[in-house]
Amino acid sequence: MFKLLISKALLMLPLYLSLTLAAPSDNPTARSANTVIPITGSNMGAVSLSDGNTRVYYQDATNGSIIQLVVSNDFEIGVYVSSAVIVPADEVRQNSPVAVSLLSDAAGFEQIHLGFFSPDNVLSEYIWEAGVGSGFQGGPTCTACVTNKGFVGAAGSQMLYALETSGTSPPVIRYGFVLDSGDSNTISEAINSGSGWTVATLT
Ligand SMILES: *[C@@H]1O[C@H](CO)[C@@H](O)[C@H](O)[C@H]1NC(C)=O
Repeated sequence: MFKLLISKALLMLPLYLSLTLAAPSDNPTARSANTVIPITGSNMGAVSLSDGNTRVYYQDATNGSIIQLVVSNDFEIGVYVSSAVIVPADEVRQNSPVAVSLLSDAAGFEQIHLGFFSPDNVLSEYIWEAGVGSGFQGGPTCTACVTNKGFVGAAGSQMLYALETSGTSPPVIRYGFVLDSGDSNTISEAINSGSGWTVATLT
């Protein structure tokens, strides 16, 4: 009896393998083998080139850093490529909004501006520019960053947007947010048209 069961199981093994190993024809084999990438964050923003090449930025819910995810395309055809810490946790307030803008050209990514608020609610950014430095620049040593202007946002505000317009050279970099001082019942913009940062309130 025991012997019979084993031989039956052995007979069924090839059938079982062929059923489980075969990829459904409408599903590429590589994707059906993928496991999900574990991510737990509070806020996020993203930019993408026209070829689908994507960068996602989110504040990690556990350690508070802002992380960059490199993703090859939209999630239907693209996959996770890599991740890296861009902004250390001690430079970001808890539950900061994350806003990101992109300038691109035929060669790909040209500039990425990543905006957020510091623990003291200072409007802050990390910037990436093709051919400049090795990776993102930011923190106290970044003289080009809006960070060193010390524009203070309203405590706890979740309102933040990032824009970069390429119609002019140099491009215009803008962040929309709620100022702590002055009119906190409206929005303002930090603007850099090439000759430094100014702030203006919507009128
Ligand atoms: C924080 O969490 C992210 C995502 O799990 C991880 O990539 C990163 O290395 C962690 N550590 C720091 C110091 O940010």
